[in-house]
Amino acid sequence: MAPDWEGIAGWCREHAVECLYLLCPASDAALARYAGEHHFALVDIRLTLERPLDVALPAMEPTQAVLRPANAADLPALQAMARTSHRNTRFFRDGKFPVALCEKYYATWIANSLADPATSVWLAEVAGQPAGYVTADARGRIGLLAVDAAHRRLGLGRQLVGQALALFRERGLAMAQVVTQGGCVGPQRLYQQCGFITAEVGLWYHKWFA
Ligand SMILES: CC(C)(COP(=O)(O)OP(=O)(O)OC[C@H]1O[C@@H](n2cnc3c(N)ncnc32)[C@H](O)[C@@H]1OP(=O)(O)O)[C@@H](O)C(=O)NCCC(=O)NCCS
Repeated sequence: MAPDWEGIAGWCREHAVECLYLLCPASDAALARYAGEHHFALVDIRLTLERPLDVALPAMEPTQAVLRPANAADLPALQAMARTSHRNTRFFRDGKFPVALCEKYYATWIANSLADPATSVWLAEVAGQPAGYVTADARGRIGLLAVDAAHRRLGLGRQLVGQALALFRERGLAMAQVVTQGGCVGPQRLYQQCGFITAEVGLWYHKWFA
């Protein structure tokens, strides 16, 4: 049965919701049609990728980066990278959210990850300077991954993913998971190279009321 649009829209107006998100499984043609009929905009494709942890990563060339757990003193550097690294996500791509708010979202996300005792945040440094990060939670999920633009395509992304996988194995987990953007070839290739395969595809829609 189709969701009751009048009820949803009324609730959103009553609660001053400016933008409503809809995550539609890619296989749900009826819901995708409903999104179109109610003028939702398709803003992203959400890919969930998974890999078993009992398979080792193929050996890789050493990089110039040194990886270590991040600490509170690293927060400004992590936030500076977080503000600029996630431009390919639905909030930036939507075009209607203020850029400063989108940047703050990722700066807050990395700060929350660092403050969460159940989440590990690892920093990659090149010549003593921050060059990338990865967050790995207690359930085997990579949350945020980024490599500074000046250090890309040098193997740091793979090294950071390898670090997250090692942490998950230490915790005795069986599977690793990550969510990424279907419209971005770079991260997808990186994860595929690290043995991840697509487990779920979803469609992100946004509907603005103003
Ligand atoms: C995705 C990201 C982390 C990759 O970091 P990186 O250090 O450049 O990755 P690596 O050098 O380890 O690349 C490993 C492989 O991934 C693939 N890859 C990485 N970036 C790519 C790109 N822009 N285009 C195509 N393939 C790419 C390649 O197969 C590459 O191997 P190769 O260089 O031998 O061809 C980095 O581009 C980034 O921070 N992007 C913005 C944030 C983001 O998208 N995060 C992931 C969302 S979960």
